[in-house]
Amino acid sequence: MDDLALFSTTGLLFILRWFHFFFGVIWIGLLYYFNFVQGAFFAETDANTKSNATQKLVPRALWWFRWGAMFTFLTGWFTIFIEMNQTPGILMSSWGVLILIGAMLGTLMWANVWFVIWPNQKIVIQNALQMATGGQAIPGAADRGARATVASRTNVLFSIPLLFFMGAAKHLPIIMSPDAKPHMPLGIILIILLVLEANALKGKTGPMTTIKGVIHCGFALALVFYAIVEAVL
Ligand code: HEM
Repeated sequence: MDDLALFSTTGLLFILRWFHFFFGVIWIGLLYYFNFVQGAFFAETDANTKSNATQKLVPRALWWFRWGAMFTFLTGWFTIFIEMNQTPGILMSSWGVLILIGAMLGTLMWANVWFVIWPNQKIVIQNALQMATGGQAIPGAADRGARATVASRTNVLFSIPLLFFMGAAKHLPIIMSPDAKPHMPLGIILIILLVLEANALKGKTGPMTTIKGVIHCGFALALVFYAIVEAVL
């Protein structure tokens, strides 16, 4: 047994990564379903079908969505802490900078799921349930839905650079100059992310309104972040 790769320290760390990919697929798969499929269907279908789906389909999808987000987040950060313990100083290496950019994006996305999308969607679902049973509409339910949409579109935007940096950490190492200051690109990218996050909390979908728009913006953002990393490191 002890000559099996899976039972070595590397093997156990790999199992953690395997779970990370598994939960990541659940989360991001549902994020893309909501944004690329469900939104357009809801805009087109009749009120009754929409109400039924909001009551019976959306809550199920949101359960997998938010727990997928939670376990992707936990397995991701756990991997980072183990790597930090095994290799002190790793966060200031090319791997560290790239994975931290991915982790900043993923952490904001996780916060959007748990603190913006889910609380607002709960009201939207409650509103559909009440109206279907002849009750009163909840005031402001439509605005709650609109806020969840901006946060959800922002998560699609962030997911594209997230996948780039998560994969790049191991597979596209950056050649760092000897006097490189790894916290510089992290700081610049964090400021850009906070501006975009402020828009998720208070602003509008803007160019992210269409699916084509949000995908284009996501690829552009990934390239901008990559250019910052290469220019500063
Ligand atoms: C809070 C969010 C996240 C954190 C802290 C995080 C952290 C990590 C870490 C530490 C690794 C290991 C990198 C390596 O093996 O060198 C990793 C890899 C990976 N992550 Fe994440 N991650 C997060 C979100 C996500 C999400 C949302 C996805 C979407 C599917 C994802 C997909 C992946 C993939 C595919 C890899 C494998 C990269 C490779 O080995 O080529 N991660 N992540």
